[in-house]
Amino acid sequence: PKPNIAPTPPMGWNSWNKFACNVSEQLLRQQADAMAASGMKDAGYQYIVIDDCWQKSRDADGNIQADPERFPSGIKALADYVHSKGLKFGLYSDAGALTCAGRPGSAGHEFQDARQYAKWGVDYLKYDWCHTGPRNPEAAYTIMAKALRESGRDIVLSICEWGDHQPVRWAPPVGHLWRTTPDIGDLWDNKEPWPLGVVNILDRQAELWPYASPNAWNDPDMLEVGNGGMTTTEYESHFSLWAMMAAPLIAGNDMSRMDADTARILTNKDVIAVDQDPLGKPGRRTVKEGDLEVWVRPLQGGEFAAVLFNRGKAPTDMKLTWGHLGLPADCKVDVKDLWSKKVTKGVSGSYAGKVAPHGVIMVRITPVR
Ligand code: GLA
Repeated sequence: PKPNIAPTPPMGWNSWNKFACNVSEQLLRQQADAMAASGMKDAGYQYIVIDDCWQKSRDADGNIQADPERFPSGIKALADYVHSKGLKFGLYSDAGALTCAGRPGSAGHEFQDARQYAKWGVDYLKYDWCHTGPRNPEAAYTIMAKALRESGRDIVLSICEWGDHQPVRWAPPVGHLWRTTPDIGDLWDNKEPWPLGVVNILDRQAELWPYASPNAWNDPDMLEVGNGGMTTTEYESHFSLWAMMAAPLIAGNDMSRMDADTARILTNKDVIAVDQDPLGKPGRRTVKEGDLEVWVRPLQGGEFAAVLFNRGKAPTDMKLTWGHLGLPADCKVDVKDLWSKKVTKGVSGSYAGKVAPHGVIMVRITPVR
């Protein structure tokens, strides 16, 4: 079986959302430095992942080569550098002949590539699904999973098949996370075709909560927090909802230039604790009335996280009732607002507040014994 190395959703950073093909060893070192120094590492972020475009070609023996202009010191030196910061290192490849950006893929080279990754010190592989021709995804990802297992190194397998072939039916025993949707964009609402906005991804993944569990996570794609296309309120909602879904938290911004709001959102320890809750049960949407939604997530030890979510254009009074949580109305609980940090003790029946347009109120509910 796959190694048990993702008991909670993986947390890290990936180059794609902000930098696309503009990757280099300087950029990656800079981001590793920033993760270690900015509070991101202290908040739990761990993996530094180079997405597409690090590869250039294969040598005469078929060994994959990094782009020598962008990575003159080689991948091993970069992995060593990332490890020296107390972080973990990840790479990207593809189950087809070519990656999505047209670089060499791993089809037919799975075992050779996995051995190479292990030699370099790779801890995480994002494995994409472009240029795969008639390949069957379950079979293709199972081959790479086997190759990684036999490489002798524990490597997280991030399946990037976009949810087209019902990965919830076959991916859980194969990979540690699997994409559920087409790519996210740095935008709030964009239904079709691509890239999707935050609410569109939310709607596509909402019913998939039963399929995730420790070491096997639904992946609604990487974070856009801090990339500039949404408001601070929208980024808070994006981050809160990803935590409710038990999503991998893979930052996609420039960590070396974070403004105060971006750092505050990405390192909100209370929200991260919800995402990383050891029970590993994703939240579900328990109410949807027009633009108003209530999301509830059970936490370890009988606690809950809840989100009141206003998708509409006007500030709206919303209420969480204990019925949403499956608790009797007279049950006394302590409520912590995870963004304002306000704690209200000994509340019974319900908890209400005014929710900003595109905003959330996110709380942690602790029943009083
Ligand atoms: C696909 C993936 C993205 C990114 C790009 C790279 O679109 O879904 O996350 O990895 O390929 O080319």
